[in-house]
Amino acid sequence: MEGLRLWILLTLLEGLFYLLRVERWRSLTAMSSLENLSHEDRIFPPSPEFVAQANAQTSLYQEAADDRLAFWSRQADYLHWEKKWDEVLKWEVPSAQWFLGGKINATYNCLDAHVIAGRGDRVAFHFEGEPGDTRTITYAQMLHDVKKATNALIELGIRAGDRVAIYMPMIPEAAVAMLACARIGAAHSVIFGGFSAEALKSRILDADATLVITSDGGFRKGSAFPLKPVVDEALAGTDHNVKNVLVVKRTGQETQWSAGRDIWWHEIVDRQSPEHIAQGFDSEQVLFILYTSGTTAKPKGIFHTTGGYLTQTSYTHRAVFDLKPETDVYWCTADIGWITGHSYVVYGPMINGATQVMYEGTPDSPTKHRLFQIIEKYKVSILYTAPTLIRTWMKWGEEFPADSDLTSLRLLGSVGEPINPEAWMWYREVIGGNNCPIVDTWWQTETGGLMISPLPGVTATKPGSAMAALPGISAKVVDDEGNEVENGNGGYLVLTEPWPAMLRGVWGEPERYQETYWSRFPGKYFAGDGAKLDDDGAIWLLGRVDDVMNVSGHRISTTEVESSLVSHHNVAEAAVVGANDAMTGQAIVAFVILRGGIPKVDGEELIKDLKAHVTKEIGAIARPKQILVVAELPKTRSGKIMRRLLRDVAENRTVGDSTTLADPNIMKLIGEGLKSGKSED
Ligand code: WTA
Repeated sequence: MEGLRLWILLTLLEGLFYLLRVERWRSLTAMSSLENLSHEDRIFPPSPEFVAQANAQTSLYQEAADDRLAFWSRQADYLHWEKKWDEVLKWEVPSAQWFLGGKINATYNCLDAHVIAGRGDRVAFHFEGEPGDTRTITYAQMLHDVKKATNALIELGIRAGDRVAIYMPMIPEAAVAMLACARIGAAHSVIFGGFSAEALKSRILDADATLVITSDGGFRKGSAFPLKPVVDEALAGTDHNVKNVLVVKRTGQETQWSAGRDIWWHEIVDRQSPEHIAQGFDSEQVLFILYTSGTTAKPKGIFHTTGGYLTQTSYTHRAVFDLKPETDVYWCTADIGWITGHSYVVYGPMINGATQVMYEGTPDSPTKHRLFQIIEKYKVSILYTAPTLIRTWMKWGEEFPADSDLTSLRLLGSVGEPINPEAWMWYREVIGGNNCPIVDTWWQTETGGLMISPLPGVTATKPGSAMAALPGISAKVVDDEGNEVENGNGGYLVLTEPWPAMLRGVWGEPERYQETYWSRFPGKYFAGDGAKLDDDGAIWLLGRVDDVMNVSGHRISTTEVESSLVSHHNVAEAAVVGANDAMTGQAIVAFVILRGGIPKVDGEELIKDLKAHVTKEIGAIARPKQILVVAELPKTRSGKIMRRLLRDVAENRTVGDSTTLADPNIMKLIGEGLKSGKSED
């Protein structure tokens, strides 16, 4: 009996030590690779010309510090409220309510407000289709289209509080669909068009959507890809509550038709009345759900509400992108399937009356000139994109941007992952002609809007640093115990005050919301990112500290890829790591143990098959770059897989300390076994 107790105690202690080591190690590796950051002495103050016309003023920081809630109220005053709020904030960790008692309509703010104010002729979108087709859509036209789509949704029985899944390519109807939902208080749940039928299905079920809006397909790299068949597959044989599938005709591809359920968008929308009066909804009405990867296999349905979200996205868009709506042409390259597309294509910019570019295709089709030609064609003045694209451009070479006139650009933004100083400098010099401030913006699906970023015209920037929390936002870097670190030190990024656009929860999983974000450091929001303060107190983001990978700015969970691999009949066990990658930030590398008793399979074929399996289960974005078949995985005596050792292998480093392994020989075996069987594409 005594022996058993002692054994349990030792095992628990071993687990605890392991966790502490991993945690410590994670902080250390993240920090050491960026050790030199305390000494960055390239500093770029704003030019006097930019300062003279900037929307943002230094005084914003003081105003917000003096009275945070009054500051946010002033930002909310920019919006049209059908009824003004009674109370700015009600906060009981971890539940926030902003602008209580206020009534507001999101779509009214994005569209009607502009048309009523006489701005209906302003271009909302210059749409550039992948095959080269173009459309120019004014605010008045967009409002007309949205009202008709709204009436179609009403005819289909959609009401406030319902959930509508949107699975579309990057075409104007995607924004129309979102705004039509918002207009009647139905929550949209946009699912990125690259996700598989399985991923789509789980999201439709989790949100209990009653309508799916999709298109027959979209265009990519010169050919049409299907979407409607993926919806059919997602719904087949599933116990769901979807009554209708509304289908935009984009490509003209043949598609199966389920009579009574499927409806062509043009057939129902075109015959609707263009009249619809928007009604204000409660400030805390759910505006949308957006799924994002967490540390478990099941994605989290992050949900956002209306008043606070609209306040923060429009304020940050005005201040950080310095938008001058009459003259600027703004282009955010994100797909509406991600939070950036929600906050900085649809809601923030449209509330501010921006003229935007929307592009359906990829950067290299038909040639690597495409995006630069679009910048020249529409005289884009504000560009917002991701470091992975900037690095891809760097690899292609300067001749491509040099062929187009990029002098219309006056501000550049970056989002999605840490931007390395070289890419930052290249962006500034080659794309911005040394003439544009760069705003490196840190935020998350959960934060809803920008949180850490320079203010152009105010902040002197350092290449690679997101610099400081925006006025009204409180971000800190803390150590393992939750104490704030001194300048020159690293730790975890936390947010210490509620902010208007914060997530209100995880759909249907209140405990997960509490557990994931509010339990690591009680009372503080744990972002899951490592960060460091340099000697001057500027914030440098260091990447995720949890089991979430960041591949080309997309969040993918290691566990999600692992469970998809083990669902393959040949795989017994799998471990997935995000290995550093010069192009995509991180790349997915999987280690798999095959099942015993199966006939010998051809290695190459199997790996191809496994990659296809993950693509089918989750989508192409989760397809591992490398899969390594191994005989064993490195585990501690308590059975934990030691990912850091696998990451050493994946990044071709000497394998680190493996003394806590149950079998210290494992790493040697893995190393030897791999010499023969590496596969990459
Ligand atoms: C990472 C995208 C460094 C970070 C808006 C965060 C960044 C995750 C930056 C959220 C940045 C985003 N510098 N890292 N400027 N922006 N990240 O939810 O790890 O897709 O936690 O939101 O991306 O990804 P998400």
